[in-house]
Amino acid sequence: MDRWLERVRREIVGLETFVPLLDGRLARYVNLDNAATTPALASVRDTVDGFLEWYSSVHRGVGFKSRLATHWYEDARRAVLEATGGDPDRHVVVFVRNTTEGMNLLAHRLLAAGDGLILVSVLEHHSNMLPWRRAGRVLHLELDDEGSIAPEALDAQLRAAGGHVRAVSISGASNVTGVVPPVHRLAEVAHAHGARCFVDGAQLVPHRRVAMGAAADPGRLDALVFSGHKLYAPYGCGAVVADRRLFEGGEPLLVGGGMVRSVTLEEADWADAPESDEAGSPNVVGAVALAAALRALAALGWDAIEAHEAAMVRYALARLTGVPGLALYGPADPARTDRLGVFTFNLGGIPHGRVAAILAYEHGIGVRNGCFCAHPLLFRLLRLTADQVERFRAQMRANRHAGVPGAVRASLGIYNTPDDVDALVRGLAAIARGEVAGRYEEDPLTGEVAPAGAPDRVRDVFDPAVYVPAPDAVAGRPGPAL
Ligand SMILES: Cc1ncc(COP(=O)(O)O)c(C=O)c1O
Repeated sequence: MDRWLERVRREIVGLETFVPLLDGRLARYVNLDNAATTPALASVRDTVDGFLEWYSSVHRGVGFKSRLATHWYEDARRAVLEATGGDPDRHVVVFVRNTTEGMNLLAHRLLAAGDGLILVSVLEHHSNMLPWRRAGRVLHLELDDEGSIAPEALDAQLRAAGGHVRAVSISGASNVTGVVPPVHRLAEVAHAHGARCFVDGAQLVPHRRVAMGAAADPGRLDALVFSGHKLYAPYGCGAVVADRRLFEGGEPLLVGGGMVRSVTLEEADWADAPESDEAGSPNVVGAVALAAALRALAALGWDAIEAHEAAMVRYALARLTGVPGLALYGPADPARTDRLGVFTFNLGGIPHGRVAAILAYEHGIGVRNGCFCAHPLLFRLLRLTADQVERFRAQMRANRHAGVPGAVRASLGIYNTPDDVDALVRGLAAIARGEVAGRYEEDPLTGEVAPAGAPDRVRDVFDPAVYVPAPDAVAGRPGPAL
């Protein structure tokens, strides 16, 4: 392992955590679920720990700690602008809980500014689909043969819509296939048709250097949204970086404290953005954590991160495509650079929930299974017929999750190694050969798969009810032993 990767791995909290397996052994946990959420960076945790000594209310207090906390909170906005190439004169940074909230905020702002069509692609996460349905009529762009979004197809669809599309909102990277659409070229096309271009950066920002682009750049982004918990800052904060003009005038999404200039019994005057769109007490700790993560990633070096991840993608593709019976959804060509380390697949005819459960219980590997909050894309990848989609919907409406179509997803972070991929491949190959120790059962309602009769060790290992520090611990003595 090279020195850079060793340095990265020292930065990751929880890398050396051992988890219990079905047979009672402990195994070092292999986390391959980074597209869902990443572990924390140690520097983020340490920054937060240090900041907590000074933590206080922001904006409205004159005490020293309040002024200091306000300084840190506003500094976090600067960090977000720096990391995304934003311009403080043109862009505003609004802190939100996550990408979902950020997309709802953008959709609300667009709706408040008038009617019109919105265009999204069919590969979007539900968070970049459903909010737009409230903001106007939504057009859906189909994917090209490579599973990406082609500028030519966007151009044709925008032309057909006769200049009525107000915004194109696309994923910077797919959480299912890992495909990285050419967002700046797509933005160029959107702008040529008078539409804005918004990017769901939930998957992109943790893996690639991003840039909003200069005012005169036709490929500039009008908004970028991302979540801290997917980029090593799991403290409940995400960000919207957007063209200031989107937040001028109109009604904020949430109203209440902290976002007004004055209130009478009849009327209220809203503050300017970003305050107008951050009603209530903000998540100061989350913003500090997000800023620390963005700065830590920059210090690790985006060139090095991108090079390491590209090498890992090539390695993983070569290894995974060699697993007998594995059907990968999404690009398998190791020469393609427009993809992240997100690998969604099925293994022979084995149900996805069973594969994921065996990997967890017998190999200590964390992956995800299901439809990944991207149902329209999964329906396409799994080639479900209209009848099958209707059956899926009926089953979900009845809240019976067993046996529904889906897939398994393994996703890499900046710290994963070839050994992690090898562990996955060994596990999958063993499952394909039928080397399975447990007798797995699926809960007919939840669809959760677990080995029959096996105790759930989660509480034995780490139970929040036990972990709450006893009064003794607060007084400086150790809490209850685990
Ligand atoms: C592409 C994409 N967009 C949006 C989201 C939603 O992010 P969050 O759950 O942080 O709101 C996700 C989460 O998986 C995602 O992968």
